[in-house]
Amino acid sequence: MKPTILVTGGAGYIGSHAVMALCDAGYRVVVLDNLTTGFAWAVDKRATLVEGAVDNVALVRRICAEYDVIGVMHFAGSIIVPESVENPLKYYANNTAASRALIAAVVACGVQHFIFSSTAATYGIPEEVPVKETTPLAPINPYGRSKLMTEWMLADVAAAHKFNYCALRYFNVAGADPHGRSGQSTAGATHLIKIAVEVATGKRNHVSIFGTDYATPDGTGVRDYIHVSDLATAHLRALEALFADPTRSHTLNCGYGKGYSVLEVLDAVRRVTNLEIKAEMAPRRAGDPDCLISDNREILARFPWVPEYDDLDMIVSHALAWERKLAARP
Ligand code: UFG
Repeated sequence: MKPTILVTGGAGYIGSHAVMALCDAGYRVVVLDNLTTGFAWAVDKRATLVEGAVDNVALVRRICAEYDVIGVMHFAGSIIVPESVENPLKYYANNTAASRALIAAVVACGVQHFIFSSTAATYGIPEEVPVKETTPLAPINPYGRSKLMTEWMLADVAAAHKFNYCALRYFNVAGADPHGRSGQSTAGATHLIKIAVEVATGKRNHVSIFGTDYATPDGTGVRDYIHVSDLATAHLRALEALFADPTRSHTLNCGYGKGYSVLEVLDAVRRVTNLEIKAEMAPRRAGDPDCLISDNREILARFPWVPEYDDLDMIVSHALAWERKLAARP
């Protein structure tokens, strides 16, 4: 058995996929999750679930000591951009302050490796597309700022302590486990592919297309959609890189490096489902950039990360399979 990794937010969407990837790779996994948006059933049975808060320093220290934790993957946090504008202090509490408490607790226990869920929202409306890691960071909402502050804390901690980290800046995460073990399950979805497959299963009536006058080829927003299982694998590769060179930290974009418009995504959903998928034009959503595509050359150069699901129709078909499974639940 490989060593123990503590996964915060391991009952959530991305976290649950990372837990499966870690278990599949032979790691022992302890999940710390308060189950406010995650689900106990989403946690791989091979992992140990501890219900609690990531800023409970005593609890984190107890877990680190009891399970001999050597690395952390920190997924727990709040992720809804409009909510962060209405309730910024929630984001600074759940994302920034909680991360600070967690980092302090694990550093005190001598844990040396840390992987952090960061976001393309740290770039705001980027100055250049594809977005490089060196593109100026200018978050335009509290969500992006709350994550960027944590990146800064990690950099300072790595400079001061025996500690290295990898911050992965996710682009648009979508899809579900190809084996049907987990997927996006939290109610009140705001993400495009999730909403479109909810229309396919009859949970919603239509998709609203937020803006048709963007500076993109068809006027709708363009994003870089990455399959959640490839993202989970990127975390594994990051962990191995942190082990291999403890003197080096990484801040890397995580995307496929290509973009699809809202209309292209809807076409993919129609192709995959063979359904009409009703869509209606709607006004722009505040704070949405025209186009967000990663330059992913840096992660591909640094890690032996080989994406397996870089195919929009496959992403949609896995999201759909999971949505159907959810719809069939009692
Ligand atoms: N969109 C629609 N209709 C919908 C939902 C989305 O037209 O019902 C459009 C959006 O306007 C955007 C694209 O589809 O052009 C993707 O929107 P999502 O809500 O799926 O994702 P975002 O790009 O807004 O969000 C992602 C991450 C966030 C991150 C943000 C940074 O999910 O965590 O990028 O800009 F903060």
